[in-house]
Amino acid sequence: AIQRTFVMIKPDGVKRKLIGEIVGRIERKGLRIVAMKMVKIDKTIANKLYEEHLGKSFFNELVEYITSGPVLCMVIEGDEAVKVMRTLIGATDPKDALPGTIRGDLALSKGENVIHASDAEEKAKREMALFFSTNEIIE
Ligand code: CMP
Repeated sequence: AIQRTFVMIKPDGVKRKLIGEIVGRIERKGLRIVAMKMVKIDKTIANKLYEEHLGKSFFNELVEYITSGPVLCMVIEGDEAVKVMRTLIGATDPKDALPGTIRGDLALSKGENVIHASDAEEKAKREMALFFSTNEIIE
């Protein structure tokens, strides 16, 4: 089924000038970019984005990192887009991510792992709503 998912190139990916590389991989896979925006995340949005991690040992570090510089937010559409994007990005810990995946090829640190993609369709809806109004997503 056609799905939409939320994808974000994190501050380390933007700083390392990996936007073109990463967007190229998503496009070449055959997925469609239906929204795109560069954002500097503030603490309020960071707390909402990562509310499931509230109270974990790495929460403060995570918020510091995600607010440290601009991120590139996208809504990606295509057949089974949620699962397909998760496969493209690879395991959360880049040390476990297979070569050929974005994290497997481009990242080494679990904290700074270059990219985020929603792990379920419900989460995708919630996450894209934090950054995009419905009229900013192309039909
Ligand atoms: P992501 O799955 O995109 O969103 C939650 C993030 O928390 C995850 O990517 C990692 O970047 C980060 N994270 C998860 N576990 C750890 C950890 N043990 N130490 C630091 N960051 C972590």
